[in-house]
Amino acid sequence: MASLRSILLLLLSAAVACHGGTYDYSEVIQKSLLFYQAERTGKLSGMDPSLYWRKDSCLDDKGQNGEDLTGGYFDAGDYMKFGFTLAYTLTLLSWGAISYEQGYASAGALDGVRDAIKWGTDYLLKAHVSANELYVQVGNTTADHNYWGRPEDMTLERPAYKVDTEHPGSDVAAETAAALAAASGVFRSVDATYADTLLQHAKELIAFADNYRAIYTESGAIPDSDGTAYLSKGYGDELAWGYAWLAKITNDQTYLQRAEEVYEEFGLINIGGGLNWEQKASGVDAVLANISSNGQYLEHLRGTCNYLLTNEKRTPKGLLFLSEWGSLQVAATVALMCLEVSNLGLDQETLQAFAKQQIDYALGDAGRSYVVGFGENPPLRAHHRAASCPDLPATCDWTQYSTTDPNPHEVTGALVGGPGENDDYSDDRTDYVHNEVCIVYNAPFTGVLAALKQLGY
Ligand SMILES: *[C@@H]1O[C@H](CO)[C@@H](O)[C@H](O)[C@H]1NC(C)=O
Ligand SMILES: *[C@@H]1O[C@H](CO)[C@@H](O)[C@H](O)[C@H]1NC(C)=O
Repeated sequence: MASLRSILLLLLSAAVACHGGTYDYSEVIQKSLLFYQAERTGKLSGMDPSLYWRKDSCLDDKGQNGEDLTGGYFDAGDYMKFGFTLAYTLTLLSWGAISYEQGYASAGALDGVRDAIKWGTDYLLKAHVSANELYVQVGNTTADHNYWGRPEDMTLERPAYKVDTEHPGSDVAAETAAALAAASGVFRSVDATYADTLLQHAKELIAFADNYRAIYTESGAIPDSDGTAYLSKGYGDELAWGYAWLAKITNDQTYLQRAEEVYEEFGLINIGGGLNWEQKASGVDAVLANISSNGQYLEHLRGTCNYLLTNEKRTPKGLLFLSEWGSLQVAATVALMCLEVSNLGLDQETLQAFAKQQIDYALGDAGRSYVVGFGENPPLRAHHRAASCPDLPATCDWTQYSTTDPNPHEVTGALVGGPGENDDYSDDRTDYVHNEVCIVYNAPFTGVLAALKQLGY
Protein backbone atom coordinates (compact mmCIF):
# COMPACT_ATOMS: atom_id res chain seq x y z
CA MET A 1 0.00 0.00 0.00
CA ALA A 2 2.71 2.41 1.05
CA SER A 3 4.77 1.61 -2.03
CA LEU A 4 1.78 2.04 -4.33
CA ARG A 5 1.23 5.43 -2.76
CA SER A 6 4.82 6.48 -3.30
CA ILE A 7 4.69 5.28 -6.92
CA LEU A 8 1.59 7.39 -7.44
CA LEU A 9 3.33 10.40 -5.86
CA LEU A 10 6.31 9.85 -8.11
CA LEU A 11 4.08 9.75 -11.16
CA LEU A 12 2.31 12.90 -10.00
CA SER A 13 5.53 14.82 -9.47
CA ALA A 14 6.79 13.63 -12.85
CA ALA A 15 3.60 14.95 -14.42
CA VAL A 16 4.11 18.29 -12.73
CA ALA A 17 7.72 18.41 -13.90
CA CYS A 18 6.70 17.75 -17.53
CA HIS A 19 4.05 20.42 -17.29
CA GLY A 20 6.86 22.91 -16.56
CA GLY A 21 8.19 25.29 -19.19
CA THR A 22 11.66 25.37 -20.60
CA TYR A 23 12.95 27.84 -18.06
CA ASP A 24 14.11 27.18 -14.53
CA TYR A 25 11.83 29.60 -12.66
CA SER A 26 13.50 28.82 -9.34
CA GLU A 27 16.84 29.93 -10.75
CA VAL A 28 15.30 33.15 -12.09
CA ILE A 29 13.63 33.91 -8.75
CA GLN A 30 16.86 33.39 -6.86
CA LYS A 31 18.80 35.57 -9.32
CA SER A 32 16.11 38.23 -9.29
CA LEU A 33 16.47 38.49 -5.51
CA LEU A 34 20.23 38.75 -5.93
CA PHE A 35 19.58 41.91 -7.93
CA TYR A 36 18.15 43.50 -4.77
CA GLN A 37 21.44 42.78 -3.01
CA ALA A 38 23.27 44.56 -5.83
CA GLU A 39 21.10 47.64 -5.20
CA ARG A 40 21.86 47.81 -1.48
CA THR A 41 23.51 50.87 -0.05
CA GLY A 42 24.83 51.71 3.42
CA LYS A 43 26.85 49.33 5.54
CA LEU A 44 26.55 46.05 3.68
CA SER A 45 26.14 42.69 5.37
CA GLY A 46 25.12 39.20 4.37
CA MET A 47 26.07 39.80 0.75
CA ASP A 48 26.45 37.01 -1.78
CA PRO A 49 30.20 36.52 -2.53
CA SER A 50 29.58 37.13 -6.26
CA LEU A 51 28.78 40.74 -5.36
CA TYR A 52 32.27 41.41 -3.95
CA TRP A 53 32.43 44.47 -6.22
CA ARG A 54 29.72 46.22 -4.23
CA LYS A 55 31.11 48.07 -1.19
CA ASP A 56 29.73 50.12 1.69
CA SER A 57 28.47 53.43 0.35
CA CYS A 58 26.78 56.67 1.34
CA LEU A 59 27.58 56.20 5.01
CA ASP A 60 26.95 59.90 5.64
CA ASP A 61 23.34 59.91 4.46
CA LYS A 62 21.47 61.81 7.12
CA GLY A 63 18.38 63.87 7.74
CA GLN A 64 18.08 67.60 8.27
CA ASN A 65 18.58 67.11 11.99
CA GLY A 66 21.33 64.55 11.65
CA GLU A 67 19.05 61.49 11.69
CA ASP A 68 20.71 58.33 10.37
CA LEU A 69 19.45 57.68 6.83
CA THR A 70 22.05 55.18 5.73
CA GLY A 71 20.88 51.96 4.13
CA GLY A 72 18.04 51.09 1.83
CA TYR A 73 18.28 50.70 -1.91
CA PHE A 74 19.59 52.75 -4.78
CA ASP A 75 16.70 53.32 -7.18
CA ALA A 76 18.12 52.06 -10.46
CA GLY A 77 21.41 52.40 -12.34
CA ASP A 78 21.99 55.61 -10.37
CA TYR A 79 22.52 56.39 -6.67
CA MET A 80 19.34 58.20 -5.75
CA LYS A 81 17.18 56.99 -2.91
CA PHE A 82 13.53 57.71 -3.70
CA GLY A 83 10.99 56.84 -1.04
CA PHE A 84 8.04 56.76 -3.42
CA THR A 85 9.39 54.06 -5.72
CA LEU A 86 11.08 52.20 -2.88
CA ALA A 87 7.78 51.91 -1.01
CA TYR A 88 5.93 50.83 -4.16
CA THR A 89 8.61 48.21 -4.82
CA LEU A 90 8.24 46.84 -1.30
CA THR A 91 4.44 46.76 -1.54
CA LEU A 92 4.66 44.70 -4.73
CA LEU A 93 7.36 42.39 -3.38
CA SER A 94 5.30 41.84 -0.23
CA TRP A 95 2.16 41.25 -2.28
CA GLY A 96 3.95 38.46 -4.14
CA ALA A 97 5.36 37.02 -0.92
CA ILE A 98 1.87 36.94 0.66
CA SER A 99 -0.06 35.59 -2.32
CA TYR A 100 2.64 33.13 -3.45
CA GLU A 101 4.45 32.10 -0.30
CA GLN A 102 4.34 28.47 -1.44
CA GLY A 103 5.83 29.43 -4.78
CA TYR A 104 8.73 31.19 -3.09
CA ALA A 105 9.18 28.26 -0.75
CA SER A 106 9.33 25.76 -3.61
CA ALA A 107 11.92 27.95 -5.33
CA GLY A 108 14.02 27.88 -2.15
CA ALA A 109 13.62 31.65 -1.99
CA LEU A 110 11.41 32.40 0.99
CA ASP A 111 14.28 33.68 3.11
CA GLY A 112 15.60 35.53 0.08
CA VAL A 113 12.41 37.48 -0.54
CA ARG A 114 12.04 38.26 3.16
CA ASP A 115 15.63 39.58 3.22
CA ALA A 116 14.96 41.71 0.15
CA ILE A 117 11.88 43.21 1.79
CA LYS A 118 13.53 43.72 5.17
CA TRP A 119 16.53 45.59 3.75
CA GLY A 120 14.00 48.10 2.41
CA THR A 121 11.61 48.23 5.35
CA ASP A 122 14.48 48.69 7.84
CA TYR A 123 15.34 51.83 5.91
CA LEU A 124 11.72 53.06 5.76
CA LEU A 125 11.48 52.68 9.55
CA LYS A 126 14.55 54.93 9.88
CA ALA A 127 13.12 57.42 7.38
CA HIS A 128 9.88 57.72 9.37
CA VAL A 129 11.47 59.82 12.11
CA SER A 130 8.27 60.86 13.87
CA ALA A 131 4.54 60.34 13.39
CA ASN A 132 4.15 63.15 10.85
CA GLU A 133 7.66 63.24 9.42
CA LEU A 134 8.96 60.96 6.67
CA TYR A 135 12.16 61.34 4.64
CA VAL A 136 11.29 60.66 1.01
CA GLN A 137 14.44 61.42 -0.95
CA VAL A 138 18.18 61.35 -0.41
CA GLY A 139 20.37 62.79 -3.14
CA ASN A 140 20.19 65.57 -5.69
CA THR A 141 18.81 64.04 -8.87
CA THR A 142 20.57 66.38 -11.30
CA ALA A 143 23.94 66.08 -9.60
CA ASP A 144 23.55 62.33 -9.17
CA HIS A 145 22.71 61.78 -12.80
CA ASN A 146 25.73 63.86 -13.82
CA TYR A 147 27.98 61.42 -11.96
CA TRP A 148 29.23 58.16 -13.48
CA GLY A 149 31.40 56.01 -11.25
CA ARG A 150 31.30 53.80 -8.19
CA PRO A 151 29.03 54.77 -5.31
CA GLU A 152 31.85 54.42 -2.77
CA ASP A 153 33.97 56.93 -4.72
CA MET A 154 31.20 59.52 -4.90
CA THR A 155 31.77 62.81 -3.07
CA LEU A 156 28.51 64.55 -3.98
CA GLU A 157 26.42 66.27 -1.36
CA ARG A 158 23.37 64.18 -0.64
CA PRO A 159 20.60 66.42 0.65
CA ALA A 160 17.67 64.69 2.37
CA TYR A 161 14.07 65.80 1.90
CA LYS A 162 11.05 64.98 4.01
CA VAL A 163 7.31 65.37 4.07
CA ASP A 164 5.87 66.83 7.26
CA THR A 165 2.81 68.83 8.31
CA GLU A 166 4.11 71.95 6.54
CA HIS A 167 5.11 70.14 3.36
CA PRO A 168 2.87 67.08 3.27
CA GLY A 169 2.79 64.25 0.77
CA SER A 170 -0.25 61.97 1.00
CA ASP A 171 0.90 59.92 -1.99
CA VAL A 172 4.30 58.98 -0.62
CA ALA A 173 3.13 58.66 2.99
CA ALA A 174 0.21 56.39 2.01
CA GLU A 175 2.37 54.29 -0.31
CA THR A 176 4.83 53.88 2.57
CA ALA A 177 1.92 52.84 4.81
CA ALA A 178 0.91 50.26 2.19
CA ALA A 179 4.47 48.92 2.03
CA LEU A 180 4.86 48.62 5.80
CA ALA A 181 1.41 47.08 6.25
CA ALA A 182 2.00 44.52 3.49
CA ALA A 183 5.47 43.73 4.85
CA SER A 184 4.01 43.19 8.33
CA GLY A 185 1.88 40.49 6.72
CA VAL A 186 5.02 38.87 5.34
CA PHE A 187 6.79 38.87 8.73
CA ARG A 188 3.82 38.02 10.98
CA SER A 189 4.58 34.29 11.09
CA VAL A 190 8.35 34.60 11.41
CA ASP A 191 8.98 37.69 13.55
CA ALA A 192 5.87 39.01 15.29
CA THR A 193 7.74 41.83 17.03
CA TYR A 194 9.04 43.17 13.74
CA ALA A 195 5.59 42.78 12.19
CA ASP A 196 4.09 44.82 15.05
CA THR A 197 6.66 47.59 14.55
CA LEU A 198 5.95 47.74 10.82
CA LEU A 199 2.21 47.87 11.43
CA GLN A 200 2.50 50.62 14.03
CA HIS A 201 4.41 52.82 11.55
CA ALA A 202 1.92 51.99 8.81
CA LYS A 203 -0.98 53.15 11.00
CA GLU A 204 0.74 56.44 11.85
CA LEU A 205 1.59 57.06 8.20
CA ILE A 206 -1.89 56.47 6.84
CA ALA A 207 -3.27 58.92 9.43
CA PHE A 208 -0.63 61.48 8.44
CA ALA A 209 -1.38 60.93 4.74
CA ASP A 210 -5.14 61.36 5.22
CA ASN A 211 -5.02 64.28 7.67
CA TYR A 212 -2.50 66.38 5.72
CA ARG A 213 -3.43 66.06 2.10
CA ALA A 214 -1.06 67.10 -0.65
CA ILE A 215 0.99 65.83 -3.57
CA TYR A 216 4.58 65.50 -2.35
CA THR A 217 6.16 66.96 -5.46
CA GLU A 218 3.89 70.01 -5.22
CA SER A 219 3.92 70.82 -1.50
CA GLY A 220 7.48 72.14 -1.45
CA ALA A 221 8.82 69.02 0.24
CA ILE A 222 11.41 68.64 -2.52
CA PRO A 223 12.75 72.04 -3.56
CA ASP A 224 14.24 70.88 -6.84
CA SER A 225 11.37 68.68 -8.03
CA ASP A 226 11.91 69.96 -11.53
CA GLY A 227 10.82 66.88 -13.41
CA THR A 228 13.85 64.84 -12.48
CA ALA A 229 12.23 63.10 -9.52
CA TYR A 230 9.26 60.75 -9.73
CA LEU A 231 6.42 63.21 -10.09
CA SER A 232 3.09 62.23 -8.61
CA LYS A 233 -0.17 63.34 -10.19
CA GLY A 234 -2.53 62.58 -7.34
CA TYR A 235 -2.91 60.84 -4.00
CA GLY A 236 -6.45 59.43 -3.87
CA ASP A 237 -5.26 56.12 -5.29
CA GLU A 238 -2.42 55.78 -2.75
CA LEU A 239 -4.74 56.69 0.13
CA ALA A 240 -7.18 53.94 -0.89
CA TRP A 241 -4.26 51.55 -1.49
CA GLY A 242 -2.76 52.23 1.94
CA TYR A 243 -6.10 51.72 3.69
CA ALA A 244 -6.80 48.60 1.62
CA TRP A 245 -3.50 46.98 2.60
CA LEU A 246 -4.07 47.86 6.24
CA ALA A 247 -7.53 46.31 6.00
CA LYS A 248 -6.22 43.15 4.34
CA ILE A 249 -3.44 42.67 6.88
CA THR A 250 -5.37 43.58 10.05
CA ASN A 251 -8.94 42.52 9.16
CA ASP A 252 -9.95 45.80 10.79
CA GLN A 253 -13.31 46.89 9.35
CA THR A 254 -12.55 50.56 10.02
CA TYR A 255 -9.71 50.43 7.52
CA LEU A 256 -11.87 48.60 5.00
CA GLN A 257 -14.55 51.24 5.36
CA ARG A 258 -12.02 54.05 4.87
CA ALA A 259 -10.58 52.30 1.80
CA GLU A 260 -14.04 52.07 0.25
CA GLU A 261 -14.92 55.68 1.18
CA VAL A 262 -11.72 57.02 -0.35
CA TYR A 263 -12.28 54.86 -3.44
CA GLU A 264 -15.66 56.60 -3.83
CA GLU A 265 -14.36 60.05 -2.97
CA PHE A 266 -11.76 59.93 -5.72
CA GLY A 267 -13.87 58.07 -8.26
CA LEU A 268 -11.33 55.30 -8.69
CA ILE A 269 -13.95 53.16 -10.42
CA ASN A 270 -13.50 55.45 -13.42
CA ILE A 271 -9.81 54.72 -13.73
CA GLY A 272 -8.97 51.72 -15.86
CA GLY A 273 -5.76 49.78 -16.13
CA GLY A 274 -3.81 51.70 -13.59
CA LEU A 275 -1.05 50.06 -11.66
CA ASN A 276 2.40 51.57 -11.68
CA TRP A 277 4.56 53.59 -9.31
CA GLU A 278 2.32 56.61 -9.86
CA GLN A 279 -1.15 55.07 -10.28
CA LYS A 280 -2.58 52.35 -8.06
CA ALA A 281 -6.31 52.29 -8.88
CA SER A 282 -6.26 48.76 -10.31
CA GLY A 283 -4.11 47.59 -7.44
CA VAL A 284 -6.80 48.83 -5.07
CA ASP A 285 -9.34 46.81 -7.05
CA ALA A 286 -7.15 43.74 -6.66
CA VAL A 287 -6.79 44.10 -2.89
CA LEU A 288 -10.44 45.01 -2.29
CA ALA A 289 -11.64 42.21 -4.58
CA ASN A 290 -9.96 39.87 -2.13
CA ILE A 291 -11.46 41.32 1.08
CA SER A 292 -14.64 43.28 0.38
CA SER A 293 -18.14 41.83 0.23
CA ASN A 294 -18.89 44.38 -2.52
CA GLY A 295 -18.37 42.61 -5.86
CA GLN A 296 -17.68 45.80 -7.82
CA TYR A 297 -13.92 45.66 -7.30
CA LEU A 298 -13.54 42.21 -8.76
CA GLU A 299 -15.87 43.10 -11.61
CA HIS A 300 -13.87 46.25 -12.30
CA LEU A 301 -10.52 44.48 -12.17
CA ARG A 302 -11.80 41.66 -14.35
CA GLY A 303 -13.07 44.18 -16.92
CA THR A 304 -9.74 45.99 -16.88
CA CYS A 305 -7.81 42.76 -17.37
CA ASN A 306 -10.09 41.59 -20.13
CA TYR A 307 -9.63 44.92 -21.89
CA LEU A 308 -5.85 44.93 -21.49
CA LEU A 309 -5.46 41.36 -22.71
CA THR A 310 -7.73 41.63 -25.72
CA ASN A 311 -7.54 45.24 -26.90
CA GLU A 312 -4.12 46.59 -26.04
CA LYS A 313 -1.15 46.52 -28.33
CA ARG A 314 1.16 43.50 -28.45
CA THR A 315 4.57 43.29 -30.02
CA PRO A 316 4.75 40.85 -32.97
CA LYS A 317 6.20 38.26 -30.57
CA GLY A 318 3.44 38.72 -28.01
CA LEU A 319 4.61 41.12 -25.31
CA LEU A 320 1.81 43.32 -23.99
CA PHE A 321 3.12 46.74 -24.94
CA LEU A 322 1.83 49.63 -22.83
CA SER A 323 5.00 51.63 -22.38
CA GLU A 324 8.19 52.26 -24.29
CA TRP A 325 9.98 52.81 -20.97
CA GLY A 326 10.33 49.57 -19.00
CA SER A 327 7.96 47.61 -21.24
CA LEU A 328 8.72 44.26 -19.59
CA GLN A 329 7.93 45.34 -16.04
CA VAL A 330 4.70 47.00 -17.15
CA ALA A 331 3.55 43.70 -18.66
CA ALA A 332 4.64 41.82 -15.51
CA THR A 333 2.62 44.21 -13.36
CA VAL A 334 -0.50 43.54 -15.42
CA ALA A 335 0.12 39.83 -14.92
CA LEU A 336 0.55 40.23 -11.16
CA MET A 337 -2.68 42.18 -10.69
CA CYS A 338 -4.73 40.08 -13.11
CA LEU A 339 -3.66 36.83 -11.44
CA GLU A 340 -5.73 38.02 -8.47
CA VAL A 341 -8.81 37.56 -10.68
CA SER A 342 -7.63 34.02 -11.40
CA ASN A 343 -6.99 33.45 -7.67
CA LEU A 344 -10.66 34.27 -7.06
CA GLY A 345 -11.63 31.52 -9.48
CA LEU A 346 -12.34 33.44 -12.69
CA ASP A 347 -10.71 33.32 -16.15
CA GLN A 348 -8.01 31.06 -14.78
CA GLU A 349 -6.83 29.45 -17.98
CA THR A 350 -6.55 32.72 -19.89
CA LEU A 351 -4.91 34.69 -17.13
CA GLN A 352 -2.40 32.04 -16.13
CA ALA A 353 -1.44 31.48 -19.77
CA PHE A 354 -1.00 35.22 -20.19
CA ALA A 355 1.23 35.45 -17.11
CA LYS A 356 3.39 32.57 -18.32
CA GLN A 357 3.64 34.02 -21.82
CA GLN A 358 4.75 37.45 -20.62
CA ILE A 359 7.37 36.02 -18.27
CA ASP A 360 8.65 33.52 -20.84
CA TYR A 361 8.99 36.38 -23.32
CA ALA A 362 11.47 38.04 -20.95
CA LEU A 363 13.30 34.77 -20.32
CA GLY A 364 13.98 33.87 -23.93
CA ASP A 365 10.83 33.22 -26.00
CA ALA A 366 11.50 36.34 -28.08
CA GLY A 367 14.94 35.04 -29.01
CA ARG A 368 17.03 36.35 -26.16
CA SER A 369 17.01 36.73 -22.41
CA TYR A 370 16.25 40.14 -20.88
CA VAL A 371 17.52 39.06 -17.47
CA VAL A 372 21.16 39.77 -16.71
CA GLY A 373 23.07 36.55 -16.04
CA PHE A 374 20.24 34.23 -17.04
CA GLY A 375 19.54 32.14 -20.11
CA GLU A 376 20.57 32.59 -23.73
CA ASN A 377 22.18 35.82 -24.86
CA PRO A 378 21.39 37.91 -21.76
CA PRO A 379 22.10 41.67 -21.63
CA LEU A 380 25.80 42.42 -21.06
CA ARG A 381 25.60 46.21 -20.98
CA ALA A 382 22.79 47.05 -18.59
CA HIS A 383 22.71 50.75 -17.67
CA HIS A 384 24.14 50.39 -14.17
CA ARG A 385 26.96 52.58 -12.93
CA ALA A 386 28.52 50.22 -10.38
CA ALA A 387 28.48 47.17 -12.69
CA SER A 388 30.10 49.20 -15.47
CA CYS A 389 33.12 50.01 -13.29
CA PRO A 390 36.22 47.82 -13.47
CA ASP A 391 37.89 46.51 -10.33
CA LEU A 392 40.00 48.93 -8.33
CA PRO A 393 42.41 50.61 -8.69
CA ALA A 394 41.16 51.46 -12.21
CA THR A 395 39.30 54.74 -12.43
CA CYS A 396 35.65 54.76 -13.37
CA ASP A 397 33.96 57.66 -15.13
CA TRP A 398 32.00 58.54 -18.28
CA THR A 399 34.49 56.49 -20.33
CA GLN A 400 32.85 53.37 -18.91
CA TYR A 401 29.44 54.73 -19.80
CA SER A 402 30.38 55.20 -23.46
CA THR A 403 32.41 52.09 -24.10
CA THR A 404 30.73 49.30 -26.04
CA ASP A 405 32.56 46.71 -23.92
CA PRO A 406 30.42 44.51 -21.69
CA ASN A 407 30.04 45.52 -18.04
CA PRO A 408 33.03 44.19 -16.07
CA HIS A 409 30.59 43.05 -13.36
CA GLU A 410 27.33 41.20 -13.73
CA VAL A 411 24.32 42.78 -12.04
CA THR A 412 22.84 39.30 -11.85
CA GLY A 413 19.10 38.89 -12.00
CA ALA A 414 18.28 42.42 -13.10
CA LEU A 415 15.40 42.68 -15.56
CA VAL A 416 16.28 45.38 -18.08
CA GLY A 417 13.71 47.85 -19.40
CA GLY A 418 12.88 45.77 -22.44
CA PRO A 419 12.09 46.01 -26.13
CA GLY A 420 10.24 48.57 -28.18
CA GLU A 421 6.93 47.88 -29.90
CA ASN A 422 8.50 45.80 -32.67
CA ASP A 423 10.50 43.58 -30.32
CA ASP A 424 13.42 45.85 -31.16
CA TYR A 425 16.18 46.10 -28.61
CA SER A 426 19.90 46.62 -28.55
CA ASP A 427 22.10 45.85 -25.60
CA ASP A 428 23.37 49.41 -25.30
CA ARG A 429 24.39 50.94 -21.96
CA THR A 430 23.49 54.45 -23.07
CA ASP A 431 19.88 53.46 -23.83
CA TYR A 432 18.36 53.91 -20.37
CA VAL A 433 14.83 53.64 -21.69
CA HIS A 434 15.32 50.02 -22.77
CA ASN A 435 18.42 48.93 -20.90
CA GLU A 436 18.32 50.43 -17.42
CA VAL A 437 17.53 48.30 -14.40
CA CYS A 438 15.42 49.44 -11.45
CA ILE A 439 14.21 48.11 -8.10
CA VAL A 440 10.64 48.61 -9.32
CA TYR A 441 11.07 46.33 -12.35
CA ASN A 442 12.02 43.15 -10.52
CA ALA A 443 9.17 43.38 -7.99
CA PRO A 444 6.18 42.39 -10.17
CA PHE A 445 8.47 40.14 -12.21
CA THR A 446 9.54 38.09 -9.17
CA GLY A 447 5.97 37.98 -7.86
CA VAL A 448 4.63 36.50 -11.09
CA LEU A 449 7.48 33.98 -11.20
CA ALA A 450 6.53 32.87 -7.68
CA ALA A 451 2.91 32.58 -8.86
CA LEU A 452 3.97 30.36 -11.75
CA LYS A 453 5.95 28.16 -9.36
CA GLN A 454 2.96 27.93 -7.05
CA LEU A 455 0.71 27.01 -9.96
CA GLY A 456 3.05 24.14 -10.77
CA TYR A 457 4.71 25.45 -13.91
C1 LIG B 1 -7.35 36.55 -0.29
O1 LIG B 1 -5.96 36.44 -0.47
C2 LIG B 1 -5.31 35.53 0.40
C3 LIG B 1 -3.82 35.58 0.08
O2 LIG B 1 -3.38 36.87 0.21
C4 LIG B 1 -5.86 34.15 0.20
O3 LIG B 1 -5.24 33.27 1.12
C5 LIG B 1 -7.35 34.17 0.41
O4 LIG B 1 -7.87 32.90 0.12
C6 LIG B 1 -7.99 35.21 -0.48
N1 LIG B 1 -9.42 35.32 -0.18
C7 LIG B 1 -10.37 35.00 -1.05
C8 LIG B 1 -11.76 35.24 -0.62
O5 LIG B 1 -10.11 34.55 -2.13
C1 LIG C 1 21.58 70.01 -7.31
O1 LIG C 1 22.67 69.88 -8.17
C2 LIG C 1 22.68 70.83 -9.21
C3 LIG C 1 23.79 70.43 -10.19
O2 LIG C 1 24.97 70.16 -9.51
C4 LIG C 1 22.85 72.21 -8.61
O3 LIG C 1 22.85 73.18 -9.64
C5 LIG C 1 21.69 72.45 -7.65
O4 LIG C 1 21.88 73.68 -6.99
C6 LIG C 1 21.60 71.36 -6.62
N1 LIG C 1 20.39 71.55 -5.83
C7 LIG C 1 20.37 71.49 -4.52
C8 LIG C 1 19.05 71.76 -3.88
O5 LIG C 1 21.34 71.24 -3.84
